[in-house]
Amino acid sequence: MKPKPKNSVELTKMRAAGQLAAQVLDFITPHVEVGTNTLKLNDLCHDFILKHNATPAPLNYKGFPKSICTSINDVVCHGIPSEKDILKDGDIVNIDVTVILDGYHGDTSRMYLVGNVSDEARKLVDDTYEAMMIGINTIKSGSYLSEVGKAIQEYSDKRCYGVVRDFCGHGLGKVFHESPPVLHYYPQIGCEDFRLRKGTTFTVEPMINLGTWEAETMEDGWTARTKDRKLSAQFEHTLAVTEDGVETFTESPKGWHKPPYA
Ligand code: MF3
Ligand code: CO
Ligand code: CO
Repeated sequence: MKPKPKNSVELTKMRAAGQLAAQVLDFITPHVEVGTNTLKLNDLCHDFILKHNATPAPLNYKGFPKSICTSINDVVCHGIPSEKDILKDGDIVNIDVTVILDGYHGDTSRMYLVGNVSDEARKLVDDTYEAMMIGINTIKSGSYLSEVGKAIQEYSDKRCYGVVRDFCGHGLGKVFHESPPVLHYYPQIGCEDFRLRKGTTFTVEPMINLGTWEAETMEDGWTARTKDRKLSAQFEHTLAVTEDGVETFTESPKGWHKPPYA
């Protein structure tokens, strides 16, 4: 199903929601350090979101028990914050925040480096950011949606990374996950492709692995890990198609795109 473009009133609300989500990631940055646990990060983000008159979309979404996702090392996505998950030197962690502000969603995630991270892990994080941007930069009114995944796949293939196929980006607005699904891989067999129209809003959120692209979901029904337990990284932005390009609603107010965040 082709997505319906948003009108300018809706886009204004999406812009505000996206900015708040990005602000949450800026706010949590100094708290991501050795020895902290991911429940603490969850609670800080939760309170910040409420204080800004918004709601954390993940909380109770299809039964998800917390307000943000925290995905450490080999966790591909949907890690559940827990007191037991204590950040240690050398970890890489994705924090994924989705807020609902004035009825509209803003969805964004970034990677964080904990203490001294190996060169290999740091390069994966850097390259994953680049993969997201290369996908985003294909977008403009009239471009094909599939170009996003094509660009990300080609970039990742060159570096022998695995591109996760079990999870994708998504349209969003009043609804958290709506049409269109945004695949990060190519070719996209059996999937509808179409030209993007101005005002269409969706996320790009590639998960890139050091090893196999394959993921598996744990007993808790949420936490997805790489099958070979090698590292996985992810970044996510919420976007709108414009006449000659793309507007990123979840740009960091502090200019914190990728680590190091100084
Ligand atoms: N924020 C995630 C996304 O990018 C979705 C999380 S759903 C949850 O689409 F239930 F796990 F929170
Ligand atoms: Co998303
Ligand atoms: Co997200």
